[in-house]
Amino acid sequence: MRVKTTFYCQECGQRSTRWLGRCPGCGAWNSLVEEKENRPQKGPEPRERGNFPCPVTEVPGDDLVRVSTGTGEMDRTLGGGVVPGSLVLVGGDPGIGKSTLLLQVAHHISRQLKVLYVSGEESDRQIRLRAERLGAFSPDLLLLTETDVDAVEQSLKDLLPPVVVIDSIQTMYKGDVGSAPGSVGQVRECSAQLMRLAKSTGISIFLVGHVTKEGMIAGPRVLEHMVDVVLYLEGDRHQSYRILRCVKNRFGSTNEIGIFDMQGKGLAEVANPSGMFLLNQAHRDVPGSAVVASLEGTRPLLVEIQALVSPCGYGMPRRMTAGVDHNRVSLIVAVLEKRVGLHLGGNDIYVNAVGGVKLMEPAVDLGIALALASSFRDIPVDPYLAAAGEIGLTGELRSVSGAEKRAREASLLGFQRFLLPGPVTSDAPEGIAVIYAGTLSEAIEAALPV
Ligand code: TYD
Ligand code: MG
Repeated sequence: MRVKTTFYCQECGQRSTRWLGRCPGCGAWNSLVEEKENRPQKGPEPRERGNFPCPVTEVPGDDLVRVSTGTGEMDRTLGGGVVPGSLVLVGGDPGIGKSTLLLQVAHHISRQLKVLYVSGEESDRQIRLRAERLGAFSPDLLLLTETDVDAVEQSLKDLLPPVVVIDSIQTMYKGDVGSAPGSVGQVRECSAQLMRLAKSTGISIFLVGHVTKEGMIAGPRVLEHMVDVVLYLEGDRHQSYRILRCVKNRFGSTNEIGIFDMQGKGLAEVANPSGMFLLNQAHRDVPGSAVVASLEGTRPLLVEIQALVSPCGYGMPRRMTAGVDHNRVSLIVAVLEKRVGLHLGGNDIYVNAVGGVKLMEPAVDLGIALALASSFRDIPVDPYLAAAGEIGLTGELRSVSGAEKRAREASLLGFQRFLLPGPVTSDAPEGIAVIYAGTLSEAIEAALPV
């Protein structure tokens, strides 16, 4: 058998026949690692009997009976629960709470269905301790500590549990793949094997995947295309809340997020989170703070954006952002300079979304711009005003989706005025005074009382 060596990028799975300093796929440096491929070269497998083209209307339909995970937040993120036979990847930084979340989910599902929790990271005793702590201590939850994927497959075939958790995919290995556990080759082969198993038996499998920046173990990105659902658990390790974000879903919408609070007894769901990212209204009467009504999936979230614009002492001005897109901030600074006439150029600029949330939606632009203008002019933004709007390069404001939903949430949280891109649309929000602005200059005029 010919042994072929191939280089794989440990970040994105790009393959190359020779070593390269920089991955042509994702641009990561020094991420290509040599892996041996000693599988015999063979053509596509002969189709199984019965695998022939047939009209889509004649494919047997099974009414997808989704299984609830026990937390409304996770169910919504998944699009209504776990679909039988699906492969769900739960990614996140080490220590963020993936094992905790999945142990809780496994415990809940085990009340109605058999669940197997396979761990390659912790010992039985450790998991027992954790389960006791989480109140997930019940005889219905089956544990298996195993890292050999063939042994896992055998257990699954013997037990046929409807739901399985594999924690983590990077600890699994397959004997005949000639590279170390956690490498792209292993992660891909093990996942492919589990996927075939899920599809052929109807078992739903949760895969835990660690995200790494160092590239020593393969990141979950190499799996994203393979699995049915990709969820990322994110959050600031120094803060207690966690956000479960859906980035791919073959059975539902991808914009959903679930919000949890990490407590002493595991992750508790936060049913009404939009007030979490706001500081006390009384403290907001300082320059450099603005509240934006962002829409994460179907849920409005009011978040305070803080900005600090201060004269640069020497050298290059610094631009630092946390929770908002760095490039977006640069763009907004340029628009403020050129279209509004605020000369921010020679200043250090810091922008932060309170509480460490990540806001990726363009509608947060207006909040960033107001916070910057407020800090620069040293005038506080009206503390009872919330805003949402996308900023265009000519300084115009572009309308946002779900204006009514955002305004309703702002009104519930005690805001009295809501700044939106104009002109007035048909679905004008009610219950709150809506101020329409066509351009960024108009918006700043309206929000910064002189
Ligand atoms: P864990 O689920 O082990 O993270 P991951 O599997 O993503 O690596 O979470 C570990 C962290 O969670 C750890 O720092 C302690 C914290 N934690 C709590 O705060 N409360 C709890 O009830 C548990 C089980 C963990
Ligand atoms: Mg873990």
